[in-house]
Amino acid sequence: MKENLSKSSRIIPTSVMLLTVATKEKHDAMTASAMFVSEDLPLVVVSVAKHILTHDLIEEAGEFVLNVASSNQAKLARKLGATHGREMDKFKEFDISTEKAGKVNSPIIKGSFAHLECKVVTSYSTGNYTIYLAEVVNYGVDDTLVPVAWHRNNYFVLGQQV
Ligand SMILES: Cc1cc2nc3c(=O)[nH]c(=O)nc-3n(C[C@H](O)[C@H](O)[C@H](O)COP(=O)(O)O)c2cc1C
Repeated sequence: MKENLSKSSRIIPTSVMLLTVATKEKHDAMTASAMFVSEDLPLVVVSVAKHILTHDLIEEAGEFVLNVASSNQAKLARKLGATHGREMDKFKEFDISTEKAGKVNSPIIKGSFAHLECKVVTSYSTGNYTIYLAEVVNYGVDDTLVPVAWHRNNYFVLGQQV
């Protein structure tokens, strides 16, 4: 089935990150896709809409955490992707449990498959989005959990190896 051109990006299966960011005064969490771009240095990219609170906070903090969503967090991913930090404190609203990260001030969401602590190296403005290139400065993985992927507006558990 052919989709509208603006929806063509949804055809690409993507990672599901619960991106958290905090400054001294504010914090926020949103659902985002991230892409790994380099191993040495370990670099990732995320593209963040300019009008949302997460964008303001990344601009101020220069860092964020990518919490790799586990299969238990698909519902949370939907909620964080459909609500706005300018209108609510999502951590309180969705009763999100956090713990301190090792090398950044943004929080880790408990129950995530993994977390990547990121510091912004540079950014690129394009249309309504800013693309952030960030270095992973610390990370952790919970191998007892399973990550999810996103495709055409649905979440899928990663499972069978082919
Ligand atoms: C699976 C999924 C992936 C998303 N990826 C991005 C993304 O990469 N960049 C972005 O700006 N918004 C993305 N969004 C939308 C944001 O999560 C959404 O706009 C969110 O409400 C922003 O939160 P905030 O207003 O608290 O900053 C995604 C949503 C979903 C459900």
